[in-house]
Amino acid sequence: MRLLYITLSFMFVVLVGSCSQPSPEVQDNEHFRRADSLLQLLTLEEKAGQMTNVGLTAITQGPFWNDFDTLLLDTAKMRDLLINQHVGSIQNKGVYPPCREEWHRIIKTVQQFVMEHSRHQIPVLFGMDAVHGAHYTAGSTLFPHQIGLAASWNPELARVVGEVTAYEMRASSQPWNFAPVLDVSMQPLWGRIFETFGEDTHMHNMMGRAFIEGQQGSSLADTTSVATCIKHFAGYGTPFTGKDRSPALIPEHYLRQYYIEPFRHAIEAGAITAMLNSGTVNGIPGHADHYLITDVLKGELGLKGFVISDWEDVGRLASVHRVASDARDAARIAVNAGLDMSMVPYDASFATDVVDLVNAGKIPMSRIDDAVRRILYVKFKLGLFDNPWHDPAGYTDFGSEEFAEKSYQAALESITLLKNDNGTLPISKDNPKILITGPTSNALTALNGPWSRTWAGDDPSYDDPGKKTVLEAMQDAFGAGQILHTPGTSYEGEVESEQHLLLKADRADMVIVCLGERPATEKPSDIDELDLPRNQLDLVKRLHKSGKPIVLVLLQGRPRIIREIEPLADAIIHAYWPGHEGGRALASLIKGDDNFSGKLPYTYPRYSGALYTYQHKVSDKLDHEFGLDGFNPQWEFGHGLSYTTFAYSDLRLSADTVFTDEGFSLEVSVTNTGSRPGKEVVQVYLRDLVATITPDDRKLVAFDKVHLEAGESKTLAFEVSYHDMQYMGLDNEWTALSSDYEVLVGGLPGELLSGKVFYAGP
Ligand code: BGC
Repeated sequence: MRLLYITLSFMFVVLVGSCSQPSPEVQDNEHFRRADSLLQLLTLEEKAGQMTNVGLTAITQGPFWNDFDTLLLDTAKMRDLLINQHVGSIQNKGVYPPCREEWHRIIKTVQQFVMEHSRHQIPVLFGMDAVHGAHYTAGSTLFPHQIGLAASWNPELARVVGEVTAYEMRASSQPWNFAPVLDVSMQPLWGRIFETFGEDTHMHNMMGRAFIEGQQGSSLADTTSVATCIKHFAGYGTPFTGKDRSPALIPEHYLRQYYIEPFRHAIEAGAITAMLNSGTVNGIPGHADHYLITDVLKGELGLKGFVISDWEDVGRLASVHRVASDARDAARIAVNAGLDMSMVPYDASFATDVVDLVNAGKIPMSRIDDAVRRILYVKFKLGLFDNPWHDPAGYTDFGSEEFAEKSYQAALESITLLKNDNGTLPISKDNPKILITGPTSNALTALNGPWSRTWAGDDPSYDDPGKKTVLEAMQDAFGAGQILHTPGTSYEGEVESEQHLLLKADRADMVIVCLGERPATEKPSDIDELDLPRNQLDLVKRLHKSGKPIVLVLLQGRPRIIREIEPLADAIIHAYWPGHEGGRALASLIKGDDNFSGKLPYTYPRYSGALYTYQHKVSDKLDHEFGLDGFNPQWEFGHGLSYTTFAYSDLRLSADTVFTDEGFSLEVSVTNTGSRPGKEVVQVYLRDLVATITPDDRKLVAFDKVHLEAGESKTLAFEVSYHDMQYMGLDNEWTALSSDYEVLVGGLPGELLSGKVFYAGP
């Protein structure tokens, strides 16, 4: 009897469970159904308002650009924009970062205002650039930037960053994140490469997917999930000159092979909205490209939600790109190309233009309905109609030690040891005296980089109390009495006198010089020269005269060239912008309490006239004598040292010949041959030996990160699919020519093991 009761109860639970949790497709259909019903009730003006996104300061007191240290909502502006003009979306903030209680107050007030005064009570959708944590909320957890996550080669960390970011955003009542950035960047001059996962497509596919799964969770309506906005579709990351928002020249088959793939993976992982490329590709502005927006992004890739413009970029079709005669013409072009929401962001002029254009028959009503249906679908899917704000008190883990620890782990795994001659690191001497110097040695802003409390991230008045700079973390790790400090120089200023520097260095056993670049993003991050500024190079040259061992720490968002000073340094660490726990992580790695395991996510150039990526062609290797020694970066993609050593053996491929649609698998053994535990990144590359389009030197198709105790061995298995063996043909179809492929497996630096597979065709 008892057994029967248990069995029946179990069946009941299973049935109820399956009834109460409809499949994602059924849920989606329901969201679209609700969107359709609501759409029917809206006037054209209300629809155009839903398509409009303004900056938060468009509804606060004072001018749009203000430097107030509090945000006071302006009722008249709210009435004008949110009620009279029906604006449906708001983003970001003013200058200072509000705390989560203040975000709650702001967002709740806005939502209640809309509930009370508008006809349909459609909640406003708030979007944020939470690109390495919910950084626009004071006290939130700040992680390494995406480039650091890529350097960890550990997608699990990207998933965790996504999860924590979503939790802390929702704790601030923010449901929509303009992240991750999926712009593969083969242009190291570009100032936003730090916001990306580097120069490789597969890395973006893996990291982007994990980040999105982390932040979207199992349901967007969960109060710990946020909606993703993948950006900036497509080709934004490789401007020809390296300047932000400047033209890119990318033939379509390359666009598809390298740049669109991460967006495809992201949409498969559930990414629900997308932001467009501010620049042009092959002369076509991203915001005017009907083919890319409508045919590719929404059609082929199947984006279900909506497409938003980047900042002011509809108007820039006229003012910058000159494909439109004025702002209204620009709105016509963008909306007809497939744009659903414009980040105007100062006013609702876009909505007025849209209404006029529809009335004049220049935008079909069906296009407007499609756009608004997508927007309403996202609002329903996010559960905004039920939960337009959240009680911050319910988010007890916000800014917790536990989250800081996750950030610390991410920083540890991302920081990359580029050089370590004569075992300079870890510091083995007892009670060493260490001189710490350089422009990034004692600044939290130098660890967090841009998008940290403010857009530029360079204002120390928003430093979080208790977080440690490199100097402070080193004092904690070695004892304050062991550490000497002098700034040495600023980012681009005068260098301290040689005499002064040498006096300091003479008192130390070694010198740690923290170099790097001033936090900046977008246009302010444009540079004319990839070399580190001359004063920073001079600082190292002066200190070198002391004869003391020198360790360089590079806190920077891109691979600034250091060719002149590289030989003067005994050890070099690339820390990217590692976030709030970066100082602690650096100290722990330098001391040897932890081991390095980061690997470069881009090629580190030696010369500014030789900016190759690892995918380069054989012809890029040609040297002056037509030999093949011409590819000579400072450090290659995938490079990174450890305090232990690893050896590879027993590469076994499951097949030596494969046919169309078949992949193969491989196994390889890796052993920790040193005396310390460590994590190794096992990298798997394919080299296509013959194709109709000159193939890349090699292509990353898989990787895994494995922890090994000293002396321990593990055998790892990888799958290589037929798709991995293909390239995009001139007809924009994936293809493969019957040919040999080399399979290269191992860790870098070091010789990769190699095998061969023959693709025999159909
Ligand atoms: C940036 C985007 C960002 C948007 C909103 C733009 O200028 O290019 O990446 O999401 O501003 O802040």
